Amino acid sequence: MATATVPREHAVTRKELIEKLNEDLSREYQAIIAYVVYSQVLKGAEYMTIAKELETHAKEELQHALKVSKHIDYLGGMPTVTPLAVKTSDDAKTMLRADLENENNTIRAYRERLRQCEALEEYGIAEDIREILRQEQEHQSDLAMALGVDVPDVSRKA
Ligand SMILES: [Fe+2]
Ligand SMILES: [Fe+2]
Repeated sequence: MATATVPREHAVTRKELIEKLNEDLSREYQAIIAYVVYSQVLKGAEYMTIAKELETHAKEELQHALKVSKHIDYLGGMPTVTPLAVKTSDDAKTMLRADLENENNTIRAYRERLRQCEALEEYGIAEDIREILRQEQEHQSDLAMALGVDVPDVSRKA
C-alpha cells in the first residue's frame, strides 16, 4: 500500500510520466535553440559576459535533452522531435527576459517531475532530474543577475 502515502497530485502512471518528460524535452529543445541564437546576436559591451554564459547554457541544455531522451526511451516511450516555440527579438533585454521566463517554467516543471518520479519509485530518473534542476537554477540566477532583478520565486505556494 505504498501508494497510499503519495499525495494524489504527484501520482502519475508511467505513460503520463513519459508524456510529461516529452513536454520537458520540448522545453529543452526550445532552450537549446534560444541559447544558440541569443548568445550570438546579443550586442553591446555590457552583454558580452552574459553572451558567453549563454553559450555555456546551450551546451548544458543539450546534455539535459540527451538525459531526458534516454529516460523516455527507458520508460518505453518515443522522445519527441518538436521544440516549444522560441521568441525572436533583436532587443537584448527582451531576449534575456524570454530566457528567464523559460527557465522559471522549466524549474516549476522539473520540481513537479521530481515528485512524480519519486512517487513512481523511479529514483534513478529522479537523481538525474535533481542534477538538471540544480543547473536550471544556476541559469535562472545568471539571467536574473544580467537583468539586474531578484531571482524569481517560482515555488507553488508563493
Ligand atoms: Fe535544461
Ligand atoms: Fe536552463
